[in-house]
Amino acid sequence: MFAKKIIPALVAGLLAGVAMNSYAADEKLQWITVGEAAYQQLQKLAPKAIAKHSAAIESSAASPGFAASKERVHVVQVSEEQMLKLSHAVHHELKRCGGFMYHPTEAAAMSVLAPKTASLAGAFAPSRPSYKIDNQTTVNAILPTMLDTNIAQTIIDLSNFTNRYYQTQGGVNASTWLMQKWQSIASGRSDISVSQFTHSGWAQKSVILTIQGTDNASEVVVLGGHLDSINSAGTTETTRAPGADDDASGIASMTEVLRAMVANGYKPRRTIKMMAYAAEEVGLRGSQEIAANLAANNVNVVGVMQLDMTNYKGAANDIYLFTDYTDVTQTNFVSSLITTYLPTLKIGSDKCGYACSDHASWYNKGYFTTMPFESSMSTSNPKIHTVNDTYANSGSQALHALKFAKMAAAFAIELGSDGPAAPSTDKTETFTGSLLKGAKKSFGPFKVMGGGSFKASTTGTGDIDLYSKFGAIPTTTSYGCKSDGASSTETCTITTTSNGDAYVLLYGYAAGNYNLTVTYKPQ
Ligand code: BES
Ligand code: ZN
Repeated sequence: MFAKKIIPALVAGLLAGVAMNSYAADEKLQWITVGEAAYQQLQKLAPKAIAKHSAAIESSAASPGFAASKERVHVVQVSEEQMLKLSHAVHHELKRCGGFMYHPTEAAAMSVLAPKTASLAGAFAPSRPSYKIDNQTTVNAILPTMLDTNIAQTIIDLSNFTNRYYQTQGGVNASTWLMQKWQSIASGRSDISVSQFTHSGWAQKSVILTIQGTDNASEVVVLGGHLDSINSAGTTETTRAPGADDDASGIASMTEVLRAMVANGYKPRRTIKMMAYAAEEVGLRGSQEIAANLAANNVNVVGVMQLDMTNYKGAANDIYLFTDYTDVTQTNFVSSLITTYLPTLKIGSDKCGYACSDHASWYNKGYFTTMPFESSMSTSNPKIHTVNDTYANSGSQALHALKFAKMAAAFAIELGSDGPAAPSTDKTETFTGSLLKGAKKSFGPFKVMGGGSFKASTTGTGDIDLYSKFGAIPTTTSYGCKSDGASSTETCTITTTSNGDAYVLLYGYAAGNYNLTVTYKPQ
């Protein structure tokens, strides 16, 4: 256990007034990525931790009226001890997040410096869902049944574990406890399953609940929060780290969404997954493995909401929507959901910085993310990551967390209730004209959708031949289909396996008039 070895060394270092700039010979260095603010802080903590690679990455995409934002991110190697001190120092000295992502290898760290879409290029990209708010009856029936007292009880139960650190028995037990709690809520439903996601590098497991969608199950909506807690002053088995706000509150809000859905017999058309991530506090490790796993399996996650700290009301507005490492279109949708379903709430916005919570793991894989937060950054709960992050220090209430639970329920139901995209109807285009003997005329491109057929047909006078081709204009010697009978009545059909451009060529074998009809599924 590293803490036994390192804490005395740390104390000795501090007594001698020496900065932590040398590594014990047996100390393992880890690859992390950090944002600019955390990197500056790291330079003070560990002057020898010099960035090996750096690049400006896009922290939010351009949207109408707003330019894209960029943030400088660094790949650097640190000891586990320095990694944990980093977040603490940034929170206390800069009053902002000291986010970082842990990476098992240098190559994995470097992959986050590549443009966000590169990891998906040529591969899988999620579908953009409709953000139409059209499930008022269902949402308005469920929201009033949600109770702060249930959220309070889950916060109390989770904060009663000595700690929920990713390497302790408490951390392991809290995961099993939550799995069982979710299983008991869902016990009457054969369409709901709960399982643990095992991580290879540490003991704590993530918990994943799945509500199987009825007729659009391949599209998935994710609600998430983190299961682990940390006390940055120490990470032993017996160190108290209640993590009532960070993040028992997010898990408790999500648990109340589940309870209310089940109590009301709600069955989504899309699949809904609720995730309690392991090992967030040590570099978003659990959520990175899960997001990577789903992306590798081409899982079409159409929307992700992260609930991390929902119960400490530190500022005038009720819900702050983070604008970095989130999707602006989905976040605007969440803002509309709040206005529609929770009209008394005041909405604010802020930025959280690089890798502040698990939504960043999904963002890096190209998924659409939103992170609603309990306060502005500068007024957020000062007790997190200490023995004092208790239910009492959130005012012994769960009314603030209830607002987030209702918003998350509205999000999951509005997205969860949409069926498969309606198959597009065929498009027909007609052309008329005449051709002299030996003349040619081409038509297209026709933007056709894969998985259908591209049909061209003619009627007319004389003898006009018909050719069609996918991907290029046909010639009389290169075509996908040829129809060259002894009149101007011709038909050609080609099947289209992927989206692309299709073309038609008419050739005047003998002069005549033509009526050309083209029918296809448009993209
Ligand atoms: N819940 C916090 C994130 C947070 C804290 C957001 C305060 C906004 C205000 C999260 O669990 C956390 O502590 N994150 C670390 C980074 C993590 C990768 C170690 C952080 O932000 O320093
Ligand atoms: Zn947290």
